[in-house]
Amino acid sequence: MSTYTIDSGTSRATPSPVPGKRITVPALRARKVDGVTANPIVMLTAYTMRTAQLLDPHCEILLVGDSLGQVIYGLPSTIPVSLEMMCAHGAAVVRGSWHSLVAVDMPFGSYEGSLEQAFASAARIMKDTGCAAVKLEGGEAMAPTIAFLSQRGIPVIGHIGLTPQAVNQLGGYAARGRTEAEATKIIGDARAVSDAGAFCIVLESVMEQIADDCTAAVPVPIIGIGGSVNCDGQVLVTEDMLGMFERTARFVKRYDDLGARISQAAETYASEVRSRSFPTDEQTYRPKGA
Ligand code: KIV
Repeated sequence: MSTYTIDSGTSRATPSPVPGKRITVPALRARKVDGVTANPIVMLTAYTMRTAQLLDPHCEILLVGDSLGQVIYGLPSTIPVSLEMMCAHGAAVVRGSWHSLVAVDMPFGSYEGSLEQAFASAARIMKDTGCAAVKLEGGEAMAPTIAFLSQRGIPVIGHIGLTPQAVNQLGGYAARGRTEAEATKIIGDARAVSDAGAFCIVLESVMEQIADDCTAAVPVPIIGIGGSVNCDGQVLVTEDMLGMFERTARFVKRYDDLGARISQAAETYASEVRSRSFPTDEQTYRPKGA
């Protein structure tokens, strides 16, 4: 495990020991051999430099998800998230990481209009942030876009199953694949996105059997979020798994109760300020010898 020395001038973290180099797209893709991924891929979201530093040693992929719309900006959905937001947070996460492959979400409205629009948006994300890949939502309908980008040097992660940018069309965030027709469509989407050149695919909120079938159906890694333990990897929104929110989806496991711990720390601080027991001598500057 790495520890970090932080340069206070630049906020750049230098890990010790210094890792060799970042995981590359081909190395990640090669984790699945003949349909089997012996070492499941670990992916978490990160939106800031400091979070990236803390997560980086433990992950293969850091995803700058457009979920930052709700998690960081308090927006009602991912729909209003802009290219500017994704670029700013993407650059911060690249600055805070050394080891993980950083992928940045293409926000709603930045890629669906035309192949040229998708290329211009993805190129901007890669130039502004230094990330190695972009992620975009959609199945068969997005296959030509995924092919266009991947054939032009832009590695793409697909995102199928529940696609939150389509919330208005779907009518909510319920799990997908409850009917035979929907299950067949999702497996078809996995095949189309893989055939188009995506190097891995996020599969969100589907019945377990569909996740197993998708994982078996395509040669590229399937990263589940609300999928199946048999997927080639797993992803969660970091703030969800840290317990920052009271309500989360069924597929979230809380590994901490950070929301309650932050609130407790703020309450203790407020009480010490009000009782004048903070700051103490230890936090106070005095002339030497005084
Ligand atoms: O935006 C996001 O955080 C995501 C994950 C839920 C996979 O797409």
